Amino acid sequence: MARSVTEWVNVTGDISIIARESGEVWFHTPNGTKEGIDPFATPMTGPGAVGSTVGLLDGAINLGFSGIEKRPARPEPTLVGYAVALVGAYHTSVDTPRNLQRAARRFNELGRPEVATYLEERAREETGHDRLALKDLRALGVPAERLVANFIPEGIKLLCKRFDDLCVQDYPIGCIGYSYCLERIAALKQKTDVEKVQALCPDGVDATRFLRSHSSLGSEAAHVEETIEFVASLPANDRIRVVQETYQSALIMAEGYNHELLKSEVEMLGEVQQAVGEALPYRHGSGPSHGEERGARPGMSGMAP
Ligand SMILES: [Fe+2]
Ligand SMILES: [Fe+2]
Repeated sequence: MARSVTEWVNVTGDISIIARESGEVWFHTPNGTKEGIDPFATPMTGPGAVGSTVGLLDGAINLGFSGIEKRPARPEPTLVGYAVALVGAYHTSVDTPRNLQRAARRFNELGRPEVATYLEERAREETGHDRLALKDLRALGVPAERLVANFIPEGIKLLCKRFDDLCVQDYPIGCIGYSYCLERIAALKQKTDVEKVQALCPDGVDATRFLRSHSSLGSEAAHVEETIEFVASLPANDRIRVVQETYQSALIMAEGYNHELLKSEVEMLGEVQQAVGEALPYRHGSGPSHGEERGARPGMSGMAP
């Protein structure tokens, strides 16, 4: 019988993630080992397997988000928070196909047609997702084009820059880690999350097209599965870089999430109204939450491309 696969990646100076094909995952501090004998001190070189690769990828996300784990429970969503989340969704989607195609061309030049094919397929699947977010904003009565042209939430800005930078690198394999991070987090959203948002929307308004398609109800779960299988098939060096980038992207997302959590509904409404140059059809405290609740939003930073 073939030996079970163990994979490991050093993601920060002193933390490595170790994952077994059986599903076990743990974080390892290299200097915690006796007498300098550390089997994980050198980078892995062997083949991947789905069970261990998903452990590394999700371990990287958990580690990146561990800094905000102890925060109080996420507040209930509000309509304004949701509109801001849709703006973020638009910005993280609008350049995705073009960026992925660029990375695909580079992998063709590098003689890696299998990576290029995977990225081209992803680019096709992501095409038009920015328009879902725009339609949702319009459904909410927001001048969508003007809003997204004049406003990009602070946390989302860094995320978009990261993806742009990754896709123009000489060896742009990290873009797979970034995409995995965003899609995996989006796929955590359940039917109840969509229903909560639907309950906020005025009767007869369908403003959850993007959210539905970027949740466990839509294509995102399949994208995640496909990516895990693809990453597991890559050589060890590529898997290492993908996992490291998944971690970096999770850190940026967590930071953006923290940033947005600190905003009140009034502040968010102010930002949106300033961007469109007019008052919006929302009252402060619209939706089921009221007054002082801070930064209420449906996991907005998890809005994936
Ligand atoms: Fe996707
Ligand atoms: Fe998407």
